[in-house]
Amino acid sequence: MKKKLVISTGAGMSAESGISTFRDSGGLWEKYPVMEVASADGFARNPKLVHEFYNARRRDLLKAEPNAGHRGLVKLEEQFDTYIITQNVDDLHERAGSRNVLHLHGELMKVRAIDDETKVYKLTPEALETTPDTVIDGHRVRPHIVFFQEAVPNIEPAIDLVQEADVFVVIGTSLNVYPAAGLLHYVRRGVPVYYIDPNPASVPAGVTVLKMGASEGVEKLAELLSEQA
Ligand code: OAD
Repeated sequence: MKKKLVISTGAGMSAESGISTFRDSGGLWEKYPVMEVASADGFARNPKLVHEFYNARRRDLLKAEPNAGHRGLVKLEEQFDTYIITQNVDDLHERAGSRNVLHLHGELMKVRAIDDETKVYKLTPEALETTPDTVIDGHRVRPHIVFFQEAVPNIEPAIDLVQEADVFVVIGTSLNVYPAAGLLHYVRRGVPVYYIDPNPASVPAGVTVLKMGASEGVEKLAELLSEQA
């Protein structure tokens, strides 16, 4: 039986695809007031601004392609039973071909009905812009994004995955945002943990830090893991 490899990714995973991170210098939260464009209160105050912010993110995403890091993670599926938990709202893991992707903070290319959370709709490249007046299937819609101040429904399945991991990897996150940042603490004792990031946050002793970008780091990771499969 293959070992279980669980990988938790953040904005740095997609940086080499040209998608802005949030907290690096020049990142999105330097250009936009985070609590205006990405919080529940902000959405209640000014939904138009929030729709426009996510429309711009969708336009950026359409121009982007998965990078060598995303593709390298797909390759690891040959050796490992591989699961990706991502804070990213882009679909670059899926487009690269990863089979098991769990989104913690929602998905940019989806919206959902404001009056019925269970009704989720996939946008098409031809109609990816939304406004407070957009109606789909008889419902006004909002971005299918977990805003600040909202619960993270997928954290429970994510914790389950981390608890079952035989190898755990963290890529491209500043480990600032909870509960995602706390996943690291659910790893079983003795499980090898790797963290790929050119500017890594502080992590517990015992974590192998690969201080490099995602593409180079995933290549290095594959070498290190080839001895563990
Ligand atoms: P951050 O912007 O906080 O952190 C990005 C991380 O990526 C930093 O640690 C960088 O050093 C690293 N990085 C930069 N370039 C990289 C590269 N080429 N390869 C690998 N890593 C690189 O982004 P997140 O930690 O993902 O949530 O942010 C977490 C959440 O905060 C996001 O999901 C978003 C944001 O607010 C919501 O909007 C709900």
